[in-house]
Amino acid sequence: MAKTLIPVFLILSTIVFFSTTVAGKSHKFSKKLSPEKLRFKHEKLTHLNLFFHDIVTSQNPTAVRVAEAAMTNASKTFFGTVMIVDDPLTEGPEMESKLVGRAQGMYASAGQNELGLLMAMAFHFVEGKFNGSNLSFLGRNSVFSEVRELPIVGGSGLFRYARGYAEARTRTLDMKTGNAVVEYNVYVFHY
Ligand SMILES: *[C@@H]1O[C@H](CO)[C@@H](O)[C@H](O)[C@H]1NC(C)=O
Ligand SMILES: *[C@@H]1O[C@H](CO)[C@@H](O)[C@H](O)[C@H]1NC(C)=O
Ligand SMILES: *[C@@H]1O[C@H](CO)[C@@H](O)[C@H](O)[C@H]1NC(C)=O
Repeated sequence: MAKTLIPVFLILSTIVFFSTTVAGKSHKFSKKLSPEKLRFKHEKLTHLNLFFHDIVTSQNPTAVRVAEAAMTNASKTFFGTVMIVDDPLTEGPEMESKLVGRAQGMYASAGQNELGLLMAMAFHFVEGKFNGSNLSFLGRNSVFSEVRELPIVGGSGLFRYARGYAEARTRTLDMKTGNAVVEYNVYVFHY
C-alpha cells in the first residue's frame, strides 16, 4: 500500500509545486480582467454600405502620388508607386450625396505582373452612430477584379476589437483621369 502511495504522492506534489510556481508568479504590470470591466458584453455584426471616391485628377485631388521608383513609368503596373489618400466616403454613389466619413491612408502598387495594390487605410466616420470611430483596413486590392476582399485589422471608439472584411466593387472608373468610385460593403464584428 505504502509502496504505491509514495509515487502517487510524488506526482501530486510535483503538479502542485509547478502549478503554484507558475500561477503564483505575480506581475505588477499584468492581471486578468473580465470583459465586462471594460463594458464589452455582446459582440455585434454591423453592415456598412459606403461609396469611396478616389479623385486623382482634379484641382482638388483626394489621392496624390508621393513616391515612385526609377522604373515605375516603364512598368505596365506602375510598380513602386505610393499614393496617399484622404478620400470621401459617401452614403450614395454620387459625390454630392451625404458625407459619412473619410478613407485616410495609402496604397502602393506592389504587383509586377498584375496590377495589385497594397492598401493600408483607416475609415474615419463623421456621421451617425459611428461618428468619431475608426476602422482600419490592410490588404491586397487587385483593382481590375470584379470583387476584392479587404481584411479589417482593428478599430477604435465603437469599433474597438473590430474584425471582419470589406467587399470592394468599382462602380465607375474614368480611364483618362484615373478617378474612380468604389462601393464598399463592410461586414464588421465589434462590441
Ligand atoms: C513618371 O510619370 C509621371 C507622370 O507623367 C511624372 O510626373 C514623373 O516625373 C515620371 N517619373 C519618372 C521617374 O520619370
Ligand atoms: C460628430 O462628432 C463631432 C465631434 O464630437 C461633432 O462635432 C459633430 O457634430 C458630430 N456629427 C454628427 C453628424 O453628429
Ligand atoms: C479616429 O480618428 C480620428 C482622426 O484621426 C481621431 O481624431 C479620433 O480620435 C479617432 N477616434 C478614436 C475613438 O480614437
